Parts: sequence; structure tokens; C-alpha cells
Amino acid sequence: MSIQWFPGHMHLTRKAIGERVKTIDVVIEMVDARLPASSANPMLRELLEHKPNLKVLNKADLADAARTHEWLDWYNQQHNTKAVAMDGHHTAPARALIDACMALAPSRGTMDKPMRVLICGIPNVGKSTLINTMVGRRAAKAANEPGVTRQEQRFSLQDGFYLFDTPGVLWPRIIVAQSGYNLAAAGSIGRNAFDDELVALELVAYLQRHYPQALLARYPVADNVQALTAMADHVLFDEVGRKRGALLPGGRVNAQKAAEIILQDFRSGVLGRLTIETPAEFQEWLATGERL
Ligand code: G4P
Repeated sequence: MSIQWFPGHMHLTRKAIGERVKTIDVVIEMVDARLPASSANPMLRELLEHKPNLKVLNKADLADAARTHEWLDWYNQQHNTKAVAMDGHHTAPARALIDACMALAPSRGTMDKPMRVLICGIPNVGKSTLINTMVGRRAAKAANEPGVTRQEQRFSLQDGFYLFDTPGVLWPRIIVAQSGYNLAAAGSIGRNAFDDELVALELVAYLQRHYPQALLARYPVADNVQALTAMADHVLFDEVGRKRGALLPGGRVNAQKAAEIILQDFRSGVLGRLTIETPAEFQEWLATGERL
């Protein structure tokens, strides 16, 4: 089974962004540093092809620092693009975004020629948090619900510098199956759209291959990393559930509860700083994975 989730409201957002972008100088696209490619919306690339693009890899505090560097290098090689990593709660990096926008559109940012920046990102990526940090007050909370028409919001960050929030809600668009699992693991798509057990099992299998140490530290289900790596993924999943007390009467593992525990541990960061896709992996999924 794969995950597909594409609410019909998307075309309204596409239209609104298409209109708005005509008067925009730089587009900030926020992605989740733990799954940068999966949390990007490919529609944006089509709409914003000719605009300078600042990629913000947010929630970098939850991501694997080495892999974040890999992603930054990858994005920074792309035309008209700059990439930065940050934790949207902190003021200094948020303010540094202003400088990065200036570098992308050096002729803007004066009273005569103000800089107009559009900030986009899928729900839960941290857009409101970043806007609040940049604006310095509780200014924005997106209504991340289908059918809710959001007022366009414009914020003045300094003289000659305006930040526009996305008109509408930019839902994720899943183009390859693995992205669906990753978005679900991060909690970025509605719960009704996926099966917790399947998503948690995929996550455990990935972490077993790439972060066995982190799994072992949180769930001591084997004597050492080699033993943990040698387990079949579904056995590992069950053992984690057992270890964490997710049991049904009679001692069988409560798979739903086990899945919720694993997903919550990943989302909150207690499993450690983890990134569940690399540029090379994403390219490989595009080339060989199940396209949606
Ligand atoms: P959105 O507008 O894009 O939908 O996202 P929002 O800012 O509401 O952020 C979604 C959740 O992600 C919030 O947590 C927020 O605190 C958290 N978040 C945002 N940026 C970062 C970051 O850089 N690092 C980390 N670790 N978390 C970040 P929440 O639990 O849903 O809300 P709250 O308890 O913080 O209010």
C-alpha cells in the first residue's frame, strides 16, 4: 500500500500563489530538514521557476547535522537558489534570512524598491513559528484546514522589507511512495491518510539500516548493534513494542500502540537527530520507486 493525499483545494492555492508571485522578489520555501525533498511541494518549482529561491531547512535541531550539510550543498548548487538550515524558534538565524534574501535580490530592499518576500511551506513545517520569530510577536498561525480561506498576511520586517505569508494552504504533493511514508512519519499529513503501523514499520526499517545505534539507545532490544541490525524489521518492531509495554491481554504486541510510540519518539526528537532521506536516496526513489 502507498500513501496518496492530494486535497482538491490545491488548485485554489496554486492560482493564488501564481497571482501573488508576479510581484514577489524572493520566495522562501521552508522544508523539514529531516525530509527536505519529501516536504517540498513540486508545484512550487513549476510556479516559481524564475524567482530567486531561498530554501530554509527548518527543524534542523531535530535533523542529522552531517546530512543537513549534504542537503545544503545539494541545494546551493542549484541555479538561483540559496539554502540555509535553522531552528525557527531562534531569533538570530531568523534575522539572517533577511541578509540571505538581500543576497538573492541585491537591487531590492530600499524604500523606493522594497523587497517583497513570499514565504511558503506545507502545514506543520514551522512557517508560523518562523514568521513570529522574525516579526517579533505572535503574528501568525495558519489555519491548516481544508476549506478555510486565509487572509493574506503581510509583515513589515524593516524599512523596505515585506514578508508575505502563503495565500491559501500549501498541502504536500506526494510524487513517490517513499515520500508519503516520510511525510506521515514526520506527522505532516493527516492521520486519516495513512496507517500508523505501516508507516512506523517503514521508519523502523530505515532507522535499522541507517541509525541502528539510535534505535538501540532508545530501545535496548538486542545486546549490540550487530544483533539489532540482524533482526527482521517486523521482529524488531514487535520487540520495541514489547519493550515499551505496548501489549494486548494475553501478551501479544499491540501493534497500533507500538507504532504510535515509535512515531511519537521520532517526531519529538527523543530518538536523536535523524534525517530520513538524502539527496542520493531521493533521486533513486524518483528513478526506481513507485511513482504516484
Ligand atoms: P506551520 O505554521 O508551518 O503549520 O507550523 P508551526 O509554526 O505551527 O509549527 C509546527 C510545530 O513545529 C510547532 O510545534 C512548532 O513549535 C514546531 N517547530 C517549528 N519550528 C521548529 C524548529 O525549528 N524546531 C523544532 N524542533 N520545532 C519547530 P507544536 O508542538 O505543534 O506547537 P507548540 O507546542 O510549539 O505551540
